[in-house]
Amino acid sequence: MNFAHSTTDAIQLDRVIFIGRTLSEYVKLFHLDLSQWQKSKILDCPAGAASFVAEAHQMGIDAVACDILFNLDESTLRAKGQADLVYMMERLADVTHNYNWDFYQNLEQLNEYRKTALESFLTDYATGRQAGRYIQTTLPQLPFGDRSFDLVLSGHFLFLYGDCFDYAFHWQTILELYRVCSQEVRIYPLQGKDAQPYPFLNNLINDLNHAEISAEIVNIPWEFLKGSNQMLRLWRT
Ligand SMILES: C[S@@+](CC[C@H](N)C(=O)[O-])C[C@H]1O[C@@H](n2cnc3c(N)ncnc32)[C@H](O)[C@@H]1O
Repeated sequence: MNFAHSTTDAIQLDRVIFIGRTLSEYVKLFHLDLSQWQKSKILDCPAGAASFVAEAHQMGIDAVACDILFNLDESTLRAKGQADLVYMMERLADVTHNYNWDFYQNLEQLNEYRKTALESFLTDYATGRQAGRYIQTTLPQLPFGDRSFDLVLSGHFLFLYGDCFDYAFHWQTILELYRVCSQEVRIYPLQGKDAQPYPFLNNLINDLNHAEISAEIVNIPWEFLKGSNQMLRLWRT
């Protein structure tokens, strides 16, 4: 793991925010080759306002998003997504030194990416919810049968909000993500909001190994939050 960057000042968020990324950002941070998953079923959990499922659906990929807020209607999620984006951008402006700005050149460009994701997500949400693409769920439980999805993606939740949830929550959630997957689970990032590595990652990998779950840390060619250039990959052999 890359410990080179060390900082104690984290982005100050008082809640898990409802924002999300685009499919092109998912491809980078989950190190995805979508041509390998074209005929697969993919779960994005929790999805927030990510447009991955909306865009994947347009590409003919069978993808499902779930989130604790997917009991809400489109206009409520629009208001929440817009408010959380403003809230996040204001706080991120205080700690820009924790981030690399080679991809997003500045805060305005980052904001545009988040707005694009929110709008694409919202365009698909109402019809997608009726079609079963957006499902309300409260982790650490998932309302899906064993091995329902080939690939399960979990971004910007578990370790990023490591200060909000205890180890038991992380453990139960990861077991649940693994239960519903038939091939792979990918979790990103491995850092908290303070850019520090999740302190129990070694314990977690040991516990996974004891449970006979294959797990590895994979380097990825993406690093916005400094040091966060790795993901956790679980797989079934
Ligand atoms: C930052 S967003 C996820 C962003 C998206 N995965 C991405 O990488 O762009 C985090 C989401 O977790 C959801 N959430 C918080 N607690 C949850 C829980 N217990 N079960 C399911 N979703 C939860 C929030 O509603 C929020 O939308």
